[in-house]
Amino acid sequence: MNLNKGSQNQEGAGGSGGKSSDQFSRYGFILAAIGSAVGLGNMWKFPYITGKYGGAAFFLVFIICLIAVGLPVLLAEMAIGRGGRGNASTSMVRLSGKKSWGGFGFISIFGSFMIFSYYAVVAGWTLHYAYLSFTGQLFGGADFGTQFGDFIGGYLPVFYQLLVVLLTAWVVAVGISSGIERFNKILIPGLVVLLILLVIRSLTLDGAGAGVEFFLNPDFSKLSPTAVLVALGHAFFSLSLGMGVMITYGAYVSKQQSLSKAALAVGFGDLLYAFLAGLIIFPTTFAFNLEPAQGPGLVFVVLPTAFEAMPFGALFGGLFFILLAVAALTSAVSLLEVPVAYVMEKWKMSRTKAVWMTAIICFIVGLPSALSVGGAVSGLTFGGKTFFDWMDFLSSNVLLPVGGLVVTLFAGWVWKDAYSEADLTPGWYKVWKFALRWVAPILVVLVLLISSGVISE
Ligand code: PFF
Repeated sequence: MNLNKGSQNQEGAGGSGGKSSDQFSRYGFILAAIGSAVGLGNMWKFPYITGKYGGAAFFLVFIICLIAVGLPVLLAEMAIGRGGRGNASTSMVRLSGKKSWGGFGFISIFGSFMIFSYYAVVAGWTLHYAYLSFTGQLFGGADFGTQFGDFIGGYLPVFYQLLVVLLTAWVVAVGISSGIERFNKILIPGLVVLLILLVIRSLTLDGAGAGVEFFLNPDFSKLSPTAVLVALGHAFFSLSLGMGVMITYGAYVSKQQSLSKAALAVGFGDLLYAFLAGLIIFPTTFAFNLEPAQGPGLVFVVLPTAFEAMPFGALFGGLFFILLAVAALTSAVSLLEVPVAYVMEKWKMSRTKAVWMTAIICFIVGLPSALSVGGAVSGLTFGGKTFFDWMDFLSSNVLLPVGGLVVTLFAGWVWKDAYSEADLTPGWYKVWKFALRWVAPILVVLVLLISSGVISE
């Protein structure tokens, strides 16, 4: 129950007087959290780093990182949100009784805002490609590299970015249970169906075996300390940690729900999705003798080449891009909710107003990102990075680990009575505290040093 009555507006994260008028249902929360975790990262980053750092050996390390560090931090975020009944900043202030934690919490809110601004751009690309694929326009014309270059070099990405921002804002504006929860309840089952269809398609391609072998054959010689830190960094990004998302969502969870079970379900869901994504990407690329690249190159250039060559490729290509778009949209919704919850509480604003104000600013801030990947402002670089690259770098490689560190230190050392929120047995509680106090902070600092480039790989 809320400890600080009257310090927020009615509908703030958790609402005043403790029990919010707008809360997640038990499964609604789990689905929304899975929706946040499962996103573009699983599809274009995970298969690539898995291939680069030793296939199954890396996957094993990723699973260990997810369990040993990701899950404890995920549970900590959910518990902070439910305990503090506020946004990522006020929750920490309430639980510690110290205003200074508000500033630390704000780091992740700002990070979410930044990620959302360019995530909406990339989500827009996937929508455009779904359209191109279903209508057959993607195939039979110029080569895919040129097509993609022409697309991102023009102004059309801005239209799709706007579409994504509007859609996301509309869902968030409707509220937690009828907006975010319902959206995820509709889309996540759809995502599962699409995923299964695509896995069947890729595994039944001639020559799929080589890709499966590449993905699942452990090569321990490629495993380096860097690989371990890359796995950990990705576990954080993949579980949407360090950006205030799980804190914000946690504020809308009923006291009756077990957070440890929810965290397990989310971790498992994310892992399963990553595994199935690997079973789509590797067999598909190997069957057509293509290189599994990463990022836009993989999704918008390499894979269309494979789709064009396979039977019913336009259909499967379209379904693949819809899958990506759905995964991206459910993550985008969670990213937008973080600054919205903050604005609502901070300025005592209605949800609708807070959403539209935040969304418009995010759209404007995202414009240079939309136009800097080959577009009008791509010539504008600082230190060799475009605006898009900087947004991505600062948010995912700097703010995200910093936000994660703040959470581990807070839950491990500052927040004394986390016990009642965590729903753990005394034995597991000790393990959890140990992970938060020692294992996670040390490893996260190392991730930060590597990902921010302070120490080189
Ligand atoms: N977890 C999402 C993905 O894997 O694409 C991305 C993400 C969403 C990161 C929300 C961080 C976040 F707060």
